Amino acid sequence: MSGFVALVLAAGKGTRMKSALPKVLHPVCGLPMVHHVVACAVAAGADATHVVIGHGADAVTEYLGATDFGAPVDTVIQAEQLGTGHAVQVCRPALDGCASPVLILSGDVPLVTPEMVAELAATHAQGGGGLTLVAVTLDDPTGYGRVVRDGGALRRIVEQKDATPSERAVREVNAGIYLADAALLFRCLERVSNDNAQGEYYLTDIVREALAEGAAVHVHHAASAELVMGVNSRAQLAQVSAAMRRHIAARLMDAGVTLIDPDHTYVDAGVSVGPDTVIHPGVTLSGRTTVGTGCEIFPGARVVDSVIGDHVVVKDGTLITQARLDGGNTAGPNAHLRPGAHLLPGARVGNYVEIKKAVIGEGSKVNHLSYVGDATVGARVNIGAGTITCNYDGATKYQTIIEDDVFIGSDSQLVAPVRVGAGALVAAGSTITGDVPAGALGISRAEQRNVEGWVARWKRKRGGK
Ligand code: UD1
Ligand code: CA
Repeated sequence: MSGFVALVLAAGKGTRMKSALPKVLHPVCGLPMVHHVVACAVAAGADATHVVIGHGADAVTEYLGATDFGAPVDTVIQAEQLGTGHAVQVCRPALDGCASPVLILSGDVPLVTPEMVAELAATHAQGGGGLTLVAVTLDDPTGYGRVVRDGGALRRIVEQKDATPSERAVREVNAGIYLADAALLFRCLERVSNDNAQGEYYLTDIVREALAEGAAVHVHHAASAELVMGVNSRAQLAQVSAAMRRHIAARLMDAGVTLIDPDHTYVDAGVSVGPDTVIHPGVTLSGRTTVGTGCEIFPGARVVDSVIGDHVVVKDGTLITQARLDGGNTAGPNAHLRPGAHLLPGARVGNYVEIKKAVIGEGSKVNHLSYVGDATVGARVNIGAGTITCNYDGATKYQTIIEDDVFIGSDSQLVAPVRVGAGALVAAGSTITGDVPAGALGISRAEQRNVEGWVARWKRKRGGK
């Protein structure tokens, strides 16, 4: 659809969330609710998107300002939150002279899709313009505005708090999504009062007003009730999040990803996963993570803002944050790849290994119980169990450089800054404080001494057994 302007209502406090965070910034699958709604408006083809902000305006402005939606998005301040009708009214100057229809979305209805907007637009066009609102029929309509009809003919919307018992029994509810002719919208809003149970200017009252002036008013029934669920409470936040997770899981499986148990797989909206990757239960892929093809990610792994190439195996319980695995790697079980960890093709990191700001070269192995930080490790290096790069003296961090084909024996410490030259060997249990030349043996430990018969003599002296 083209030739319309979008308004996103996002100024409310969200009292029922009982949160210090503005409601519309609560994340659903990794992105604030308002992000999903604005992205929908943009994807649906809005010429301009105005977000009405008020409660927590600074935080919402900061988020929107820092986010690229690929189209202009601006904010309109609603200093006092006097109701949804008032929220639209404050947009009037921003829409001055606007001849296009106005799409109104709620910042707390985050599952709305561009397809639904297109369907709404089609119903709107068929109905001859005017005002079209989205409605659904719910088993439990509690909390939503009810669609009041008289012999089938639309009359008005009544809010839960203003409804009579018989109106409350109505299961057809207002989704809070509208498409309206701009002139009709603002004309009707002028006639809306706040004489109701909540003392608010209800946007929903434009339905009655538009009907009163004989305008075309139509109801568009959304294909899926799930897509218009609103979030007013933490329980609804969990329901909406679960619904979005199901959609993401369906999209991934369509794209050739195996999810062993889709209901227990936590993939954020911004994540991409290649075909033939297998994701086990209890895996979390979040933020801007990308995963290549043919990977396997085992239970309890969490990957945040990271790039995982093709044919990577992430074993159980591994945490990967702002790291890069080029391809053919294995990590874990229980490995910790921290920001700046970069595994070149075929590099392997094993159990209880922590890597930070370090490149691990092609085919190199850090298989057991090591810490490698602020380091550059060449190709075909073997770092033995329990090796530590001592990168920090309490004030400054220093680099460790390990060149190609080095072998570091187990339980060694490399006190940075230090360089181990190509093909060198560090003897197990060494504390390396100076550079090791290429091809050399670096060893720093007391030579072994065996005292014959010592144990028997000691036991006699000690007495007892
Ligand atoms: C609203 C509708 C209700 C509908 C439901 C669907 C009204 C009066 N009621 O009820 O019919 O069934 O949505 O989810 O519109 N907001 C502002 N400024 C304000 C007040 C609210 O920007 O002064 C924003 C909120 O941030 C929120 C949206 O408008 O994103 C809806 O407000 P909310 O208070 O949640 O309305 P509901 O009671 O859910
Ligand atoms: Ca709401």
